[in-house]
Amino acid sequence: MELRVIEHPLVTAKITLLRDENTSSATFRQLVEELVTLLAYEATREVRVEPVQVKTPVTVTTGVELTRPRPLVVPILRAGLGMLEGMMRLMPTAEVGFVGMVRDEETLQPFTYAERLPKDLSGRQCYVLDPMLATGGSLGGTVQFLVDRGADHITCICLIAAPEGVERMRELVDPIGVPCTLVCAALDERLNEVGYIVPGLGDAGDRLYGLA
Ligand code: PRP
Ligand code: URA
Repeated sequence: MELRVIEHPLVTAKITLLRDENTSSATFRQLVEELVTLLAYEATREVRVEPVQVKTPVTVTTGVELTRPRPLVVPILRAGLGMLEGMMRLMPTAEVGFVGMVRDEETLQPFTYAERLPKDLSGRQCYVLDPMLATGGSLGGTVQFLVDRGADHITCICLIAAPEGVERMRELVDPIGVPCTLVCAALDERLNEVGYIVPGLGDAGDRLYGLA
């Protein structure tokens, strides 16, 4: 698995504001949207395109359009939903599938409560959205769903990742042999004793949408 940590002053400044416990939910949602658009620019570098003719007012020339089948964007509910709008703004013709997972805060195991994905993902590029990669249980489980359906290229976009989660993703993905890239805005220090990312930003879902 390739790890790309985006080093850009605008990204770091927005992550700093996200971390601030005094940032309101409204501002937090806005920042998440802005960040995903910045990360998506890098994350879609390998999106498949094919040549297309375009008639300008002056002449006919060749450009590109996204190859069919279109890429599939998969936000992991709930917090990943906050990243969907920003991603779709950049790739409006992509399709969207959904995976709903919640972590048991005692065992840290993810529980899947919703899954709405195409049955056959052969030949599809998939983009998974989740702001937080902590133990890797939720992202790993989602990537496994996609691989099981035949996805042949997976890019995960996270805002903050813990080294423990990155390691777990490598252990899952590398033996499978499906090309997988993880793009994130920050690689933090570690997980604390209750599985939260340090320094992190707290519970991303709660900060986006309020307490469950
Ligand atoms: C958060 C986050 C990830 C997961 C990360 O979701 O959005 O999905 O935790 O933790 P992990 O890497 O240890 O699996 P949460 O389970 O809190 O659900 P929510 O999005 O509904 O808040
Ligand atoms: N989920 C979150 O939302 N934040 C963390 O720090 C870990 C898991």
